[in-house]
Amino acid sequence: MAPQITIGNGLLLLGCGKMGSALLKGWLDSGVAPGAVWVIEPHPSDWLQASGVHLNEGVPEQAGIAILAVKPQMMRAALPGLAALGNGSTLFISIAAGTTIATLESVLGAQTPIVRVMPNTPAMVGRGISGLVGNAHTSAGQIAQARQLMQAVGEVVEMEHEGQIDAVTAVSGSGPAYVFHLIEALAAAGEAEGLSPDIAMQLARATVTGSGELAHRSSDSAGQLRINVTSPGGTTAAALAVLMEPETGFPALLRRAVKAAADRGRELGK
Ligand SMILES: NC(=O)c1ccc[n+]([C@@H]2O[C@H](COP(=O)([O-])OP(=O)(O)OC[C@H]3O[C@@H](n4cnc5c(N)ncnc54)[C@H](OP(=O)(O)O)[C@@H]3O)[C@@H](O)[C@H]2O)c1
Repeated sequence: MAPQITIGNGLLLLGCGKMGSALLKGWLDSGVAPGAVWVIEPHPSDWLQASGVHLNEGVPEQAGIAILAVKPQMMRAALPGLAALGNGSTLFISIAAGTTIATLESVLGAQTPIVRVMPNTPAMVGRGISGLVGNAHTSAGQIAQARQLMQAVGEVVEMEHEGQIDAVTAVSGSGPAYVFHLIEALAAAGEAEGLSPDIAMQLARATVTGSGELAHRSSDSAGQLRINVTSPGGTTAAALAVLMEPETGFPALLRRAVKAAADRGRELGK
């Protein structure tokens, strides 16, 4: 069970789209009182309007925590409205990809406690994973608060320094898209071997989600789970000989894909 969430003087959520809604739902489900939450969102969903939070009532004079969940390109326009909470005791938590702590400090004030977080979309089903890192002004207690908030939608790992956020983005932030593409590619390969498109997709989707669940529940390593389903000289071994080929298989391909994502993250952060 996720630990109890402590939000002190109320929680402000800026932007309540896909990720903001997933987070807010996790917090409310974990026992955060709707009356302690202020949300600013130009196009509130029906669910948000019925949630009981303070919706579009402006920025409260005080807030224990402010969560920034707008798109990175909206950040510069949205941040100045919150600057009054900067340089004080309000903990800012940003989930925006590519928006650096230095950028946030430049608008909110250099003394502002800031935690930068990279979540991922399985947060929508409570199975996300987030990497987080705080700036020099965050206390251990504030890092613990950020952890609690993100644990409402999944697992949390802490980075040693902000430079590692681009690698987190490239592995787990963007990673769900790689897995969805694996489903597409596996289904297409099944079609090429004579299956109907519907059956091929059903097989591919259930195989990826079922294997994910097995990996989640099992205490075996991923390597051991692979070995467990690979008989020497069998069909799985034949496929793995292709997939594990050092130059053309998964390892080299994913190394290139993850590097491309990390490089792009570094570029966006400039
Ligand atoms: N989705 C992911 O997988 C994922 C993963 C990691 C990190 N993130 C980060 O999470 C953040 C949110 O992503 P998302 O997918 O949830 O995007 P989203 O669905 O577009 O949500 C952003 C919301 O913020 C609203 N907004 C825009 N300007 C605003 C303002 N000035 N004040 C308050 N709200 C404003 C938008 O309203 P309008 O629609 O009217 O513009 C929208 O509802 C991004 O920074 C992204 O980098 C997302």
